[in-house]
Amino acid sequence: MSSPIELRVVDVVAETVDAKSFVLEPPEPTSYSSGQFLTIAVPSEEQGFVARCYSLASAPHEGGLLTVTVKRTPGGYASNWLCDNVRVGQALKSLPPSGVFTAASVDDDLLLFAGGSGITPVISLAKETLARGSGSVALFYANRSADSVIFGSTLAKLAAEYPDRLTITNWFEDSQGLPTAAGIRAFAEQFTDRHAMMCGPAPFMQAVSDVLKSLDFPRERRRQEKFVSLSGNPFEISAEVVDAADLGAAAPEGAGCTRVSGEIDGAAFEFDDWRPGVLLLDFLLEKGIPAPFSCRLGDCSACACRVIEGDVEMVTNEVLEPEDIEEGIRLVCQSLPVTEHLKISFS
Ligand code: FES
Repeated sequence: MSSPIELRVVDVVAETVDAKSFVLEPPEPTSYSSGQFLTIAVPSEEQGFVARCYSLASAPHEGGLLTVTVKRTPGGYASNWLCDNVRVGQALKSLPPSGVFTAASVDDDLLLFAGGSGITPVISLAKETLARGSGSVALFYANRSADSVIFGSTLAKLAAEYPDRLTITNWFEDSQGLPTAAGIRAFAEQFTDRHAMMCGPAPFMQAVSDVLKSLDFPRERRRQEKFVSLSGNPFEISAEVVDAADLGAAAPEGAGCTRVSGEIDGAAFEFDDWRPGVLLLDFLLEKGIPAPFSCRLGDCSACACRVIEGDVEMVTNEVLEPEDIEEGIRLVCQSLPVTEHLKISFS
C-alpha cells in the first residue's frame, strides 16, 4: 500500500490549451475511491524527484486505468514538466491512490463546487454517483472562460444521459467576474439538504465555504479538497524501513505506554505498547495495521483519523482546519501519545 508503483502511460489527452490528462496503467489492479489522488514523482535535475499530488479524474467503475489531469501552473516546475515531457509508453513513479475527499455513499445527493482544475476529483465523484448510485448531483463550475473548461464534453454527455439527476451551472470570469457570494448562494440555496464538496483555488473555496456556513450547512456536510505543496519527499520517506527493534527500544517495555484501540475497514485492533516519541503511523504500520498515508509530512490529510477517546499531540499540521481539530480529526502520521488510552476510527 505504501510502496511506490510504476504506472505506464497509455494515453495523453489534451483537454485544453494548458491542461492534459494522463491515462495510466498500474502494474496490477489498484483499488481506489472517487475523489482520491496520486502522489507522483516528477523527475528533477536538482533534487532527483519532486513529489506532487494530482487528483484522479477517472472513476473506479470505469475500469482499471487511472487518469490524472494536470493543468500548467504559470512558473510551476512539476505541472509544466509533466505537460511538456510525458509521452505514451513512459512510466511514472507514484504512490498508491490515497486521500479522504470521498463521498460516504453513492446514494447521497451531492452539491459540488469546482474552480478550474478543481474539477478533477469532482468529476470523478459525479461520475461514480451517477453511474453506480441513486444520488443526484448539482455542480457549480467556475472557469476563467469557456475555452478553459476541462471535461466540457464529458459533462455535456453526462447531462444528456442523466437529465433528472445532474444539474450544472457554469460561471465564467471573463464575462461575470470572480464568483460572487450572491451567485454561489443563489445556486446553493436550492440544495441545502445535500452533501457539499468543493475543490479549487483557496479564495474560491473560502467564498463557497462562507456561503454554505451562512446557509447553515452542518460541518459534516461541508467537505473541501486542498491543493497542497508537499514540503518534503514522501518517496524517500516511504523507502525507509521502520525498524521494529528501534521502536521497541524507545522505552522499557510497558513504561509510559499508551493503549491504542480502533477500527479500520471494519476490523478492530488494540495494542498496549505505543511508546512515547513514536509516531502513531509508524507504530500502526509496524503492527501490520494498514493505516492510510501519503506524504507522511502533515501536508495532505491522507492519514486522517477521528479520535473517539483520549488525544494525541500533533507535531505538524499543514492541512487540518481548526474546526477539523475541534471535531476530533487528527493526522496519524504526525501524532505522538499524550494520554493513557487512545481510541480512533478511520471510517
Ligand atoms: Fe499526509 Fe499524514 S500522510 S498528512
